[in-house]
Amino acid sequence: MSFSAAASGFAVLFLSVTVGQAKPSWSVKYGSSQICALKGSTVKIKCTFTYPSERGRKTTNVETSFWFTKVNYQGPLDLKKDSDYNGRITYEFTKKNCILTIRDLKQSDSAKYKFRFTTNQPTGSYTGLPGVTLTVADFRVQVRRLETLTELKCESSCDLNEPPSYVWYKKEQKMEEKSPSIQVSVRDDNSYSCSVKGHKDYRSPSVYAPKLLIASLMSSDEITEGSSVTLSCSSEANPAAKYTWKKKKNNQTVLSQAPQFVLSSILSSDSGQYYCTAKNELGERTSGSVSVDVKYAPRPPSVTVTPSGEIMEGSSVTLTCSSDANPAANYTWYKEGEESPKASVLNFTITNIMVQDGGNYSCEAQNSRGNSNATITVTVVAAPWNQVTAAAVPVAFLAFILICLFLWIIRKKKGWKQQSGPGAGQIPREQVKPAEENVIYANVHLTKEHKDPLYANVSPAQSKRHLKNRKAEEMVEYASVNFDSTKAGARAESKKQDAAEDPAALYSTVNKPRKNGTS
Ligand SMILES: *[C@@H]1O[C@H](CO)[C@@H](O)[C@H](O)[C@H]1NC(C)=O
Ligand SMILES: *[C@@H]1O[C@H](CO)[C@@H](O)[C@H](O)[C@H]1NC(C)=O
Ligand SMILES: *[C@@H]1O[C@H](CO)[C@@H](O)[C@H](O)[C@H]1NC(C)=O
Ligand SMILES: *[C@@H]1O[C@H](CO)[C@@H](O)[C@H](O)[C@H]1NC(C)=O
Ligand SMILES: *[C@@H]1O[C@H](CO)[C@@H](O)[C@H](O)[C@H]1NC(C)=O
Repeated sequence: MSFSAAASGFAVLFLSVTVGQAKPSWSVKYGSSQICALKGSTVKIKCTFTYPSERGRKTTNVETSFWFTKVNYQGPLDLKKDSDYNGRITYEFTKKNCILTIRDLKQSDSAKYKFRFTTNQPTGSYTGLPGVTLTVADFRVQVRRLETLTELKCESSCDLNEPPSYVWYKKEQKMEEKSPSIQVSVRDDNSYSCSVKGHKDYRSPSVYAPKLLIASLMSSDEITEGSSVTLSCSSEANPAAKYTWKKKKNNQTVLSQAPQFVLSSILSSDSGQYYCTAKNELGERTSGSVSVDVKYAPRPPSVTVTPSGEIMEGSSVTLTCSSDANPAANYTWYKEGEESPKASVLNFTITNIMVQDGGNYSCEAQNSRGNSNATITVTVVAAPWNQVTAAAVPVAFLAFILICLFLWIIRKKKGWKQQSGPGAGQIPREQVKPAEENVIYANVHLTKEHKDPLYANVSPAQSKRHLKNRKAEEMVEYASVNFDSTKAGARAESKKQDAAEDPAALYSTVNKPRKNGTS
């Protein structure tokens, strides 16, 4: 078997050589079976073809010739009719040569290219197999982080025939370096790209540290407890950045290492400022912060009474209500058993509290997410000073009564004296008149002073004294008349009691020191 195979192989070879020498056979020969070309460049794929010049005395004429990569139901598809190559290919066909030129190579041009021609001979069509494999290569800058520097290496996806001379660009500016790899410092905010000499129109994509970093909230809806929130970090970076999410208040903890950070079933404690960091081999960047504000209904309020404990009647009391809520709650105070709210303030102050103001007060905290309430009992006790007053009123009243009684007694006594004085008939008529005037005057005073029991004690005495002085002056005349009788003067001198009994004598007693002074 192996012998026969070898023999037949030899026979084929021999035959083709002899036939080839006699008249050309059907053939397509390609310059190379593998071609690597750079993206954006122009490639020429060359071949030569042969065919028998005649068959059965019929001269062979080439009718169609084309290159193709795809086969459809009609057969091989001429590249000129393939929209993918629109305007980018040219054929150069001669009697023996078949050259395909593709300009502005694209990655999608990587394929197996075959040449086919047809002739006027029956079964005189020929496709050159296996064709030419074209690989469209692009440049890449491979980035490798060294200790303090970053190494950039220019690479292409296929081996170029000759080691090329490299060209490096820094921020679009050509650099001096020509080696396949260079070292740059990190965080210099530059972008780098490479190319090879002769291909300046086509460069590798740039590599650079993260830029245009944006942290954002994926939804604009109000964040409520229990909902799910996604934070997104996006940046431009090449090579791709690695992301980390942190919260400002706790910036030691990495919350996520994905560009998207999901806070599922969010809690109020998740509120805060978040930021992300994007980092690649060329540097890192930190985003601005994104604010997460979790809204929630008021928590059960805490209510306090100041002062605490039992409250004295008449004092001032402040009920304070405070509830954790977002947005901040507004507060309404109700008194148990009363429909309408007492106050709509956080601190509800009751001044001059009454016993009937005691009871249960509830505070309702409300915001857009809901409400909650709490109750507190206010106990009001009667103030001690009120008890004192209560005890003091009868005492004062009693004192007043006693004073009145006392005064009345005094008045009564006087009234009796005045009535009894003239009744005795011992005082001359002229003397009675001033005495009567005097009494009336004193009476008026007394009624006036009655209003104030405290003064009532003193005033009559005062007014009496005052009156006595005045009357004494007024009555100097009368006195002179009066004291004509030595009996009266002696009487006055001998006994005070007697003087008190006689109004005329009273005046003389008062006047006496003055009289003594003058006489
Ligand atoms: C982290 O927090 C500390 C203090 O808590 C602050 O000094 C530091 O700047 C913060 N770092 C960042 C990256 O925000
Ligand atoms: C309410 O009262 C508390 C103390 O009782 C006080 O600290 C707070 O400032 C008051 N708030 C208002 C709005 O009056
Ligand atoms: C206040 O509330 C408590 C308990 O809820 C109740 O026992 C008490 O009777 C209430 N007081 C008044 C004055 O309604
Ligand atoms: C309190 O807030 C709620 C919800 O925001 C609102 O409907 C209500 O009118 C407010 N009440 C007062 C007294 O401001
Ligand atoms: C207070 O809250 C309870 C439930 O917690 C509710 O039944 C009651 O109606 C509330 N009271 C007010 C005044 O809102």
